[in-house]
Amino acid sequence: MDTIELEKRHATGVVPQRELAIVRGDGAVLWDDHGNEYIDCMSGHGVAIIGHNNPYVAEAICQQARQLISLSGSFYNDQRAKAMAKLAEIAPEGLSRVFLSNSGAEAVEAAIKFARMATGKPGIIATMRGFHGRTMGALSATWEKKYRQPFEPLVPEFSHVAYDNLNALQEAINDKTAAVLIEVVQGEGGVRPASPEYLKGLQALCQERGVLLILDEVQTGFGRTGKMFACNHYDLTPDILCLGKAIGGGVPMGATLIGPRVQNILPMSHGSTFGGNPLAAAASLAAIRYIEDHDLPRQAAEKGQHFMERLRQISSPKIREIRGLGLMVGVELRSKAAPYLAALMQERVLALPAGRTVLRFLPPLVISIEQLDRAAEAVERVLQADLDSAQSDEE
Ligand SMILES: Cc1ncc(COP(=O)(O)O)c(C=O)c1O
Repeated sequence: MDTIELEKRHATGVVPQRELAIVRGDGAVLWDDHGNEYIDCMSGHGVAIIGHNNPYVAEAICQQARQLISLSGSFYNDQRAKAMAKLAEIAPEGLSRVFLSNSGAEAVEAAIKFARMATGKPGIIATMRGFHGRTMGALSATWEKKYRQPFEPLVPEFSHVAYDNLNALQEAINDKTAAVLIEVVQGEGGVRPASPEYLKGLQALCQERGVLLILDEVQTGFGRTGKMFACNHYDLTPDILCLGKAIGGGVPMGATLIGPRVQNILPMSHGSTFGGNPLAAAASLAAIRYIEDHDLPRQAAEKGQHFMERLRQISSPKIREIRGLGLMVGVELRSKAAPYLAALMQERVLALPAGRTVLRFLPPLVISIEQLDRAAEAVERVLQADLDSAQSDEE
């Protein structure tokens, strides 16, 4: 039985899948089980920032696997200590305490719990079109109805306000509010960067009203937007920073960093068996070293600008808007994105949806200009076809 049939037989069906079995990767290229080559503009939903088969991370994993793979948080560990120190060093100043976990959703769960514990208040204000994960707490902050509705009732005291709208936020904050939780660039919600005025006003408003600011940089972190963290573009310092995806160089990991306004974190109030395991910590250290050695944030800024300029040369009535920050790029169409994503796959380019109408490009930051040009040419070709009535599995 081939891979696709075998996986289909045992999968729950909860994750829609493309008819493609990927078995190998290198840099920004993936290969299927028939040896066909694809340009990867997904990086596994934003994980593989440093490229597939990265030599730093492969070497670190092998070395650490021979030394010590797992260790509970009850003991100190050299790799964990170094990884925490490194995260605190590269994060905005003051975010010096780190809780390590295994995913973006877990990073957000910890943030919600820490915010409630530190303030003694229950309220979390998130934003329309925001995405923060699918566990019950993170899901309560996520906006999209189709993710939320089957699981209601969700966690109480969560509300959603319009994104990029300071007045809406100002009105929503009340004496039950613990924190405001936002993405600096909304990813799943359609690749929507917030305005600099909003982000600047946001921090001042949170401080003035005595609520905590939680930034979810699970998708935007580690160079994706052209700076190490998207908040660096705006000199924004949150009270809590949620990290995931690229943090472990491909190994599952999440992190929640907290600043000086987050106090009263009680012992035993939170935990995670695998959180801060030496293997993930070693992989993370290697991944961050690679990002720094190769100045990937700068590469993302330059390549992102080139890619967006190239996409803007496409003259198609199907394009509503092209937007993004660094190598986080969205092409909003006037119709559904799914048939065009399927056509791109036929062109051997893998890209993502973001909402119903946006083609989202999150390539590894090591992608070459030539590969980006090939991806843009493929976009141009698929937009010439009339696919508006075509069906696709990912809708
Ligand atoms: C902004 C943001 N937060 C949280 C998450 C959840 O991360 P994970 O899927 O690792 O739980 C995601 C995943 O796409 C995300 O984009």
